[in-house]
Amino acid sequence: MTELQLHETLPALRTELSALRRNGKTVALVPTMGNLHKGHLSLIAAARAEYDVVVATIFVNPMQFGAKEDLARYPRTFAADLTALRESGCDYLYTPATGEIYPEGLAVHTRVSVPGISSLHCGHSRPGHFDGVCTVVCKLFNMIQMDAAFFGYKDYQQFHLISTMVRDLYLPVRLYGVPTVRENSGLAMSSRNGYLDAQQRTQASALYATLLQTADSIRAGASEFRQLEKAASATLAAAGLQPDYFHICNRNTLQLAEQNESDLIILAAVYAGTTRLIDNIFVQAAS
Ligand code: PAJ
Repeated sequence: MTELQLHETLPALRTELSALRRNGKTVALVPTMGNLHKGHLSLIAAARAEYDVVVATIFVNPMQFGAKEDLARYPRTFAADLTALRESGCDYLYTPATGEIYPEGLAVHTRVSVPGISSLHCGHSRPGHFDGVCTVVCKLFNMIQMDAAFFGYKDYQQFHLISTMVRDLYLPVRLYGVPTVRENSGLAMSSRNGYLDAQQRTQASALYATLLQTADSIRAGASEFRQLEKAASATLAAAGLQPDYFHICNRNTLQLAEQNESDLIILAAVYAGTTRLIDNIFVQAAS
């Protein structure tokens, strides 16, 4: 167990981190919205393995939630999060109040927006979501001033957009992507899994099963991607889920893939009841 240091406001944390960096220590950031599970903890472990000092943040960012989304009921489990962070070897936890991030309110705060991809896939169903993500992540980068930051591939579109933002704005941070941690059923771990009842949890495992099945078909040579997407959506619906989208994409551009493309990612979102779940899988098509 390490001595986890808690900071609710920035100045003292920033003084400590800049002293550490002046003394040659490297610092990694793991931004989260809390309700920590093994997926989050795998990011802490990956950061721990490469960097001297690991800083986690917990901030349920109102800017990335739509008006009808689950901001108010998003799970907040601070005591359990603290225990998990202590056990994981995290050094610092920053838990800003909304007033420290948005002192004059959301409406007048500067926004960071990556056009194009932000309105596809999850962005199509959640308008403005990725502007909220990019804004808060950019702000946390500037506040913490770390060497590196770790994100999960589970939210691959988010990872892609943050990478684009870092590249476009020359932000001085090295980004790492970490593979998705899953339940035994294949269901990707997510804070929103806590909303699922027993039946929905069983149904939800069809999401990853369908991604695997479609990936297998592509590897075996199937190349009618739009037809595969339709068939997969039908499979998800038959399993009791409401598909939001199921898109076979070019892994580098996140645009819908054409037949001759081989470096692919399948991005998918479904509703289990009112709970929105996302997942993805990388696929190398047969050439
Ligand atoms: P949150 O959903 O709490 O996720 C924090 C980080 O954990 C993200 O990088 C996410 O991709 C990663 N993560 C979530 N589930 C995972 C899993 N099963 N396996 C591996 N990594 C997983 O994503 C956010 O918060 C927010 O949008 C944030 C980046 C903090 C900005 O507010």
